[in-house]
Amino acid sequence: MSSTAVSLLILTKTFGNLHQAVKSLNLDIKPGRLVSLLGESGCGKTTTLRMIAGLVRPNSGSILFDGVDITDTPTEKRPVGMVFQKSLLFPHMSIAENVGFGLKMQKVAQTEIDEKVEKMLGLVQLEGYGARRVGQLSGGQEQRVSLARALIVEPDVLLLDEPLSALDANLRVQMRDLIRSIQQQIGVTTVFVTHDQAEAVEISDRIALLVDGRIEQYATPEEFYTAPESVKVARFFGTSNLLEGHADRGTFTCAFGSFPINSGLTSGDGILALRQEEISVFEGKAQGPGDVTVVVEQIQYLGTKTRIWVKPSIADRRELVQLDASPSFRPQAGDTITVRFNPLRIHILPTESIVETADSGEETEGSISTDKEKSR
Ligand SMILES: Nc1ncnc2c1ncn2[C@@H]1O[C@H](COP(=O)(O)OP(=O)(O)OP(=O)(O)O)[C@@H](O)[C@H]1O
Ligand SMILES: [Mg+2]
Repeated sequence: MSSTAVSLLILTKTFGNLHQAVKSLNLDIKPGRLVSLLGESGCGKTTTLRMIAGLVRPNSGSILFDGVDITDTPTEKRPVGMVFQKSLLFPHMSIAENVGFGLKMQKVAQTEIDEKVEKMLGLVQLEGYGARRVGQLSGGQEQRVSLARALIVEPDVLLLDEPLSALDANLRVQMRDLIRSIQQQIGVTTVFVTHDQAEAVEISDRIALLVDGRIEQYATPEEFYTAPESVKVARFFGTSNLLEGHADRGTFTCAFGSFPINSGLTSGDGILALRQEEISVFEGKAQGPGDVTVVVEQIQYLGTKTRIWVKPSIADRRELVQLDASPSFRPQAGDTITVRFNPLRIHILPTESIVETADSGEETEGSISTDKEKSR
């Protein structure tokens, strides 16, 4: 299989006259990479994937494979393979016939089809299943057959639309690992749609986080944790601590004190986005640049950890941050303790990004308030 670069250029899709499902979307996928389209239900993931497949026609914009514009190429002429959420296997055919279907359409000789089907079934770890009927397979096996059927025609681009969402948790993990290993083995450029953040992080080279038809951030999984570009992204990836403050010449000052900025905005009003795992209880007196003396506001025992909310020791400051400590650490409300804000993770977001943040409306303590998106 050849490795193909995929580019989406200002791709837009409006359903009817009104609903803009995908809005001027730009995306560049390098050959052989696995990129996830991640986002909440209705954000435009499937529509984007179906435009790449040629199943949905964009209103404007273009789709390029290796620099060649295929926007007007009919779906059957596009070198793509697709796997859907529900396996769409032909019930009246055997597994082998299902897997070989694409080759049969291409009028490939039966002996060659048989050979390739065997190889494909081996690849998805279903050797010897060829003679079975579709009804005799588990959900996970059905999805592996769907994958084999998509791959047998040697597509340049593999498109997977939530192929694991119907499977239970353990099977999802196994299947995710299998998909990743096959993808790396054959090097096919892959677009993987999911709304599961953990799944995207574990399987992808890069993730495009879609919010309301637009790409909010396109980055490596790690960058979504260490360098989110907006409050929306930080929240989607579970950052619980967002502190308003001011950046000046590389130092950020907020209710908890001043911290040397590690990444992001370096001057002007900003928001410190600090994940709870980047704050730890520090035994002893504050001494380093990230050490802060705080007062315990509330604790919650969670079995494997103690969740603690703390506020600044300065009178009148009500801001809270949340952190997790060892389950044996059980301070009392009102205790003064020292915590360490990981000095390597002082990442500052621009303030304007809070304006149009859509959130679930559950205001977690220690977070800042945001305007809720009106359309929700
Ligand atoms: N054929 C259609 N006609 C009208 N509206 C559509 C059509 N297909 C999708 N939409 C709308 O476009 C928006 C994006 O839909 P899409 O299926 O791309 O979302 P998604 O991100 O895949 O969501 P999910 O995670 O639920 O599958 C939604 O608001 C949806 O209702
Ligand atoms: Mg979808």
